[in-house]
Amino acid sequence: MAIEQTLVLIKPDGMRRGLTGLVLDRLESAGLQLVATRMVKVSEELAREHYRDLKDKPFFPNLIEYIRGKFHDLKHNQVLALVYEGEGAVALTRKVAGATNPEDAAPNTIRGSFGRVTTKGQFENVIHASGNVGDAEREIKLWFTPDEILQPIYPTTSASNGKSAGAKAWAK
Ligand code: PPS
Repeated sequence: MAIEQTLVLIKPDGMRRGLTGLVLDRLESAGLQLVATRMVKVSEELAREHYRDLKDKPFFPNLIEYIRGKFHDLKHNQVLALVYEGEGAVALTRKVAGATNPEDAAPNTIRGSFGRVTTKGQFENVIHASGNVGDAEREIKLWFTPDEILQPIYPTTSASNGKSAGAKAWAK
C-alpha cells in the first residue's frame, strides 16, 4: 500500500468539548504518524474554499458557520488542523473517524463515540478527514505551507518561492 498524507481537522465541537487528546490518541493508536499541526482561526474565505464542492448543498451555509465555530461559543473560532501520514492513510483515517453521519457511525469510531446530529439536522461530527487522495492533496495545500510539514509528499505548485497554493493569506 502507498504512503499517503491526509488532512484532519478537529472541528469546533471537538475543540469546545475538550476532545483533542482523545482524537489524537485514536489516530496514533491506529498507526498514523503526525507530520504537521497548527491552530487555525477559520475565515469565511478558507471555510468556503475548503468546502467548495458542496456549495450547492442545502446545508452549505450551516457547514460554513459550524467550521467557523459559530455554534460553539469559541473565543477564537479555532480548529486544530493536522496532517497524518501512513500506508493508506486516507482510508485508514476515514475508518477511525467513522461514517459522516454520527448516527450511522460505528460505536468504536470517533464520530460514533462523540458525534451528534442536532435537532435542526446539523451534523456535529467532531472531525473532518479527507475523502480521497486527490482531496487530501488539495486540502493539505490549502491549510499548510510545505515548510510546515515534516516531509511534504505532494508536489508543490509554485517553485518560485518554495510555497504551494496553500501559502495564502487566509491560512495565516
Ligand atoms: S454529500 O452530501 O455526499 O456531498 O456530502 P458528504 O461527503 O457526505 O459530506 C460532505 C461534508 O458535508 C457535511 N454534511 C453535513 N453537514 C451538516 N448537515 C448535513 N445534513 C450534512 N451532510 C453532510 C459532512 O459532515 C461533510 O463534512 P466533513 O467536514 O467532511 O465532515
